Amino acid sequence: MTTAQTDTNAATAAADHTRFAIGFDDRDRARFHALIDQVLDSNRWTEATLTARFEEAWEAWNGLPAVALGSWSGGALAALHFAGVQGETVLCPSNTFMATPLAAIRSGAEVQFVDCNREDLCMSFADFERKADQHRPRAAILVHIGGHIAFDSEQIAAYCRENDIFLLEDCAHAHGADWNGRKPGSYGDAGVYSMYATKTVSTGEGGVLVSRRPELVEHARGFRNYGKPTYEVQGLNFRMNEFTAALGLIQVERMPEIVAWKNEVARAELDPVFEGSRLELPDGMSSGLYKYIVFDWLERSTGRVYDEPCHRIMGHQVELPNSDWVAANHSCPPLYYRPATDTGENG
Ligand SMILES: Cc1ncc(COP(=O)(O)O)c(C=O)c1O
Repeated sequence: MTTAQTDTNAATAAADHTRFAIGFDDRDRARFHALIDQVLDSNRWTEATLTARFEEAWEAWNGLPAVALGSWSGGALAALHFAGVQGETVLCPSNTFMATPLAAIRSGAEVQFVDCNREDLCMSFADFERKADQHRPRAAILVHIGGHIAFDSEQIAAYCRENDIFLLEDCAHAHGADWNGRKPGSYGDAGVYSMYATKTVSTGEGGVLVSRRPELVEHARGFRNYGKPTYEVQGLNFRMNEFTAALGLIQVERMPEIVAWKNEVARAELDPVFEGSRLELPDGMSSGLYKYIVFDWLERSTGRVYDEPCHRIMGHQVELPNSDWVAANHSCPPLYYRPATDTGENG
């Protein structure tokens, strides 16, 4: 074992991952303050260099061009506007946050819910195919629940390509995930991350859209800024300001370390306790571990990812047995980024 490994293990052992902490590393505090001073001095508090640097750093990790936004919503609305879903049907998993169906509804679409798999909590290809045949959707939203990549992503994406269905990946939980080198947002037409305060890396509020389609990236840039300069895209204000972008830059650069730390704690401390009941990933996949999911009810937990499936909240008369099963049969032991540092614990 190298000295570096010993240090990491010692830090892990000393950290208390069970107390809530935002995924921010105290070693970044001084750099963050310096960047904030830089923004103050620049007299450019929006639409300037920090936003561009944050987007470049995100692209370096994600492997796709990135557009910074004020929230996940801004990115989802931009992508669904590009897809032309108004008056059309959008397929959406029920086991997700209400943000997912609401983005489609606000875009003028009708939502039809799809069941999930019990194994990964994410949209099931079998039910997706059934619902796509039945409803002929213009678009679908695939949510990567909990920080791993939805197991049926490749099949769903292939079906969408063959049937001209626009595929939006809801990557709100998926920071840091990887499947044989492939990142979230690279399966569909676009992916949108949330930088909300509890996410694996956060800017308090914020979002990032990624896409390999240049015309969609251009659309999102216009959509976040009232369509400036040509006004061909009728968007609103979904800009990220320069102070937020400064934090985003620091966070995305630290993200691989945050995710590696969470995985190390999961392997060393949680896996031995929850062997047999924890969510198992396929070979070659690593999770960003926004949530550590156990198919059991634990008293000492942060609760469920979601308590009630969206089709129940919205009163849709559709049978989605796996979504109901998942809501009743899992919970999440706490796993917060808290590296022990020379100067004391984070937070
Ligand atoms: C699955 C999912 N989608 C979308 C969102 C919305 O993100 P935001 O609050 O940044 O708009 C969240 C936020 O928690 C989420 O968990």
